[in-house]
Amino acid sequence: MIVTTNELFKNAYGRYAVGAYNINNLEQCVGLFRGNLGKSKTNEDPVNASGSASFIIQISRGARSYSDKRFLESMIRTADQVFPEAIFAVHLDHGTEEVCYDCIASGFYSSVMIDASHEPLDKNIEITRRIVDRAHAKGIVVEAELGQLGGVEEDVTGSVCLTEPDQAAEFVRHSGCDSLAVAIGTSHGAYKFAGSQSLHLDRLKELQAILPKGFPMVMHGSSSVPKAWVDRINNAGGKMRDTSGVNEDQYLPAAKLGVCKVNIDTDGRLVWCAVYRESFRDDPANFDLRPPGKQFMQAYADYILHKNQKLGSAGQLEGVRASLAAYK
Ligand code: 13P
Repeated sequence: MIVTTNELFKNAYGRYAVGAYNINNLEQCVGLFRGNLGKSKTNEDPVNASGSASFIIQISRGARSYSDKRFLESMIRTADQVFPEAIFAVHLDHGTEEVCYDCIASGFYSSVMIDASHEPLDKNIEITRRIVDRAHAKGIVVEAELGQLGGVEEDVTGSVCLTEPDQAAEFVRHSGCDSLAVAIGTSHGAYKFAGSQSLHLDRLKELQAILPKGFPMVMHGSSSVPKAWVDRINNAGGKMRDTSGVNEDQYLPAAKLGVCKVNIDTDGRLVWCAVYRESFRDDPANFDLRPPGKQFMQAYADYILHKNQKLGSAGQLEGVRASLAAYK
């Protein structure tokens, strides 16, 4: 069942964060649905109540143009039928004004992100306001961004500039956005931290205090870039540099301070890369795409379950279903 991100945030606020996972292809899509229902091996496995979570499917502009945006849409609609127990939002990640309008018109997306964070405050407000007006008229919610993350994601490059609390309050008041991506020290991509830096939870606390009560915040650039997966990639012929990501034990403290959505893209790519490299290393005679595809779907499902446990969303699916039924 497709719902808006803000419907999911109502249940999550202050307790746990909803995982927002970027996908590009069929294997990621199947692994994602299985993982969020606690099914590891097959679509027919029973739902594991203690592991099942609501989630957000993120579609970037790069994912929309990888093959054709219509393939993604029909794949996700099919997954909704194959996994009728799933409750999820379909969200445009880092949209421009033009792409937001296209997604709003499509009738498929339940949430869009307008990223005008590179613009001065006034212009960011003005652009976001236009998107909000059009999106709300169709029951779609809007995530906006204020402050700058570091790193590179597809064509989005940034240098760190933490979100200012006073500006955030003004931005939310005037733009009318439904959730706000804040910069608190994370960055996009695999190479986040050179040393032992961590999140600026102190800044998050100030933001929570100044924003309207219960207003959802979003954390981009939140992959943990696990050393174990980087090692697996390198042991199978990869050449990744030493790196580290967000400490998974900081997800829950951030959630308690109002972060309702945690964006994860890079970690999914690492799982993909390790599984495929190992598969071809271990079975060099194989030229069939299905054996590594099957291994990846299972590994990705297991990884999503692990991530949801760290986010606190695992085991919350039935509570979400009940709360949706209560206010509908
Ligand atoms: P990562 O690169 O840390 O996975 O962040 C993804 C993201 O924020 C997508 O918007």
